[in-house]
Amino acid sequence: MKNQSNTNTFNIHYPMKKLFMSMAVALMLPISVLAQDVQLNVHPDQAKNVIPKEIYGQFAEHLGRCIYGGIWVGPDSNIPNVQGYRKDVFEALKALEVPVMRWPGGCFADEYHWMDGVGPQENRPRLVNNNWGGTVEDNSFGTHEFLNLCEMLGCEPYISGNVGSGSVEEMAKWVEYMTSDTNSTMAELRRKNGRDKAWKVKYFGVGNESWGCGGDMTPEYYSDLYRRYAIYARNYGDNRLYRIASGANSTDNNWTEVCMRKIGHRMNGISVHFYAVRDWGTENDPETGIPMGKKGWALTFTDQEYYNIVSKALQIEDCVVDHMRVMDRFDPQKRIGLLVDEWGTWYNVEKGTNPGWLYQQSTVRDAIVAALSLDIFHKYTDRIKMANIAQVVNVLQSMILTNEKNPMDPCVLTPTYHVFKMYNVHKEATYVPSDLVCNYISVNAKEQIPTVSRTVSCDKNGVMHISLTNMDLNNQHVVAINIDGMKVKSAEGEIITAPDVHAFNDFGKADEVKPVAFKGAKVDKKGQLLVTLPAHSVVTITVK
Ligand code: AHR
Repeated sequence: MKNQSNTNTFNIHYPMKKLFMSMAVALMLPISVLAQDVQLNVHPDQAKNVIPKEIYGQFAEHLGRCIYGGIWVGPDSNIPNVQGYRKDVFEALKALEVPVMRWPGGCFADEYHWMDGVGPQENRPRLVNNNWGGTVEDNSFGTHEFLNLCEMLGCEPYISGNVGSGSVEEMAKWVEYMTSDTNSTMAELRRKNGRDKAWKVKYFGVGNESWGCGGDMTPEYYSDLYRRYAIYARNYGDNRLYRIASGANSTDNNWTEVCMRKIGHRMNGISVHFYAVRDWGTENDPETGIPMGKKGWALTFTDQEYYNIVSKALQIEDCVVDHMRVMDRFDPQKRIGLLVDEWGTWYNVEKGTNPGWLYQQSTVRDAIVAALSLDIFHKYTDRIKMANIAQVVNVLQSMILTNEKNPMDPCVLTPTYHVFKMYNVHKEATYVPSDLVCNYISVNAKEQIPTVSRTVSCDKNGVMHISLTNMDLNNQHVVAINIDGMKVKSAEGEIITAPDVHAFNDFGKADEVKPVAFKGAKVDKKGQLLVTLPAHSVVTITVK
């Protein structure tokens, strides 16, 4: 067992018990688990940082069926819709209380020319989506459709501007079009296109993955370009842009270092992208011959593959900690935010779907990845100001799926959706530091994962919520919880799990994985709170 304080990562040596457990997991042996084998000590007196709601951000890209067929079906569609937005998807997003949505990409953003997506629908040009399967799009979902959606959902828009193939003038005019209430030509054009009042746009990205699909640049060159583009992305009226630099590919700290040095406080935030993906090489799609990678399957995975993905997902902690160390050197007051504006699991596309559309299913494994990732972001909100899971509908680790073959089928909510909803109690709550002592499981010669992950927070009414995730595939764990200065009287909540970790929600069987009442929390005779976590489960309890 070892102690996981709130800032620890797990590079410690392994006691015999952990070694025994790892061997048992590797050999698929049943492990006898001691009662109360996990200890959680909670320190409410150390609570300080409020968890920004933007940690629960979403990402909507023109990719596959995320926008077209996912969010947008158009007002003339037979599919029930609200002003063109697919009704069941819209309602599910509304119920999720999405705080912020990033659009239009992703790689798509650096080939997107916003002028093509405004004005009368019949005049909008068609575009080839070069990044994602060469799909031809009709531009029917553009600036108005996105910003109106955000307004209707009550979420902040996060616009990704085009640096890779767009001009400074184009970006400057887009900001003016969206946010200026003057009588300038751009503001008048917006009015002519049906929107009188300027929208409020806070989050504005200056490029996306500029090291790759967004222009294949060096950090030095990008930093110079950032300065040039960002200065013309103006604040109009009382609209204040939060300008975000295109950040590192995963663990590339040099990118962050150069941007911090050369851009510095000209940016409000810098992004980083990190996917829980294991790439085992290249494999071609048997039908089309298109290279599709060999990332493992969303639905059919071995125990080893389960642990591989969970372990990779946990490595996001080392990734952000290393970037934050670099940022601290240049910005010790933490005025510049780190935004994890793409994260999530990434597997092979589902068989029979377009390899360029990144459609994947989602199981209890993804629910666990969602929970442990949110747990990590919560720990560092003095620096991490936003995170956007990729992506909201029908792409990668989605919240929602719609049926390509039978689009009239009701949409399906994924296990990840349910985790986000269950975790809503932590949004804008004060993070409560805690120490966790638990066993570790060996994944391979270099990687070990803790059995349990957690978040503790106190909401505005002073009510404490504790989320606990049991990452152990085969064994329950009993968590003994001690809260400084508090005698627990009762604890109840919800659990997301299924007998089989491969369980998923599908069209026609949409409720295989969903939250149900949790009965595993008890206060013992000594007044200690004991929570029994079934194997591969996510639990949130309210403690009173
Ligand atoms: O989310 C899919 C793609 O992954 C995004 O378009 C890009 O930014 C990243 O490489």
